[in-house]
Amino acid sequence: MMTRLAVALDVPNFTEAQRLIDALVPLDVTFKLGYEAFYAYGDRVRAYLEERGAAYALDLKLHDIPRTIEAALHALVRPGVTLVTLHALGGAEMMASAVHAAQERADILGMPVPKLLGVTILTSIAAENLNELGLVGGPGENVVRLAALARDARCAGVVCSANDISDIRQFFGEDFVTFCPGIRPAGSAQGDQKRIATPAQARAAGAHYIVVGRPITQAADPVAAAAAILADLRAV
Ligand code: C5P
Repeated sequence: MMTRLAVALDVPNFTEAQRLIDALVPLDVTFKLGYEAFYAYGDRVRAYLEERGAAYALDLKLHDIPRTIEAALHALVRPGVTLVTLHALGGAEMMASAVHAAQERADILGMPVPKLLGVTILTSIAAENLNELGLVGGPGENVVRLAALARDARCAGVVCSANDISDIRQFFGEDFVTFCPGIRPAGSAQGDQKRIATPAQARAAGAHYIVVGRPITQAADPVAAAAAILADLRAV
């Protein structure tokens, strides 16, 4: 299995995003639009990615009632969109509506169906915060329970730490997509990420995607940084 590199376009304006897209398109990466890019200049950057024929993930962590989610997917699915994230805490019916709407829309547009990925427990939520949310058990149990809910709703996979891949594979099999942030090439700044892995470690664990932001976007030479990560992935 090949591990793909997803580059988080977490930059404040379209010009910077465009520069990164132009530089990285030849490396065949998947771009990731999160809140920062989507809310600030989403329409422009999506039109540009489409124009460049680039694949991208919409990391919008959707969470709303099923009808609203369905309408959102109808509006969001366009050529180039390969992945969309949503909160598993939105419930089975919400996730199933998203999967259905993505399929419906992709069929109309004659494009591959984007994969829905469940976000389980945000990595910013500590064990002691689970109780105040009314969630029983520790983070591990909640992650697995919510991942099972996502799988049953026919989501393609989950967003998870590289450290969780072996558990996820054990429970849900190796085809269940793992989309893993918190990746740091050896020697790069950890920043605010807590549980990190190198690209090679994530690859060895069986990650389908590694998500990398700052080690590429803030590098003096983003192309060299991305190429080094790709080389690291291929060397395993
Ligand atoms: O810059 P860095 O490599 O830390 O970027 C990681 C990306 O993955 C960011 O866009 C961040 O929002 C996203 N992400 C994360 N941890 C999660 C879910 C998403 O870092 N649990």
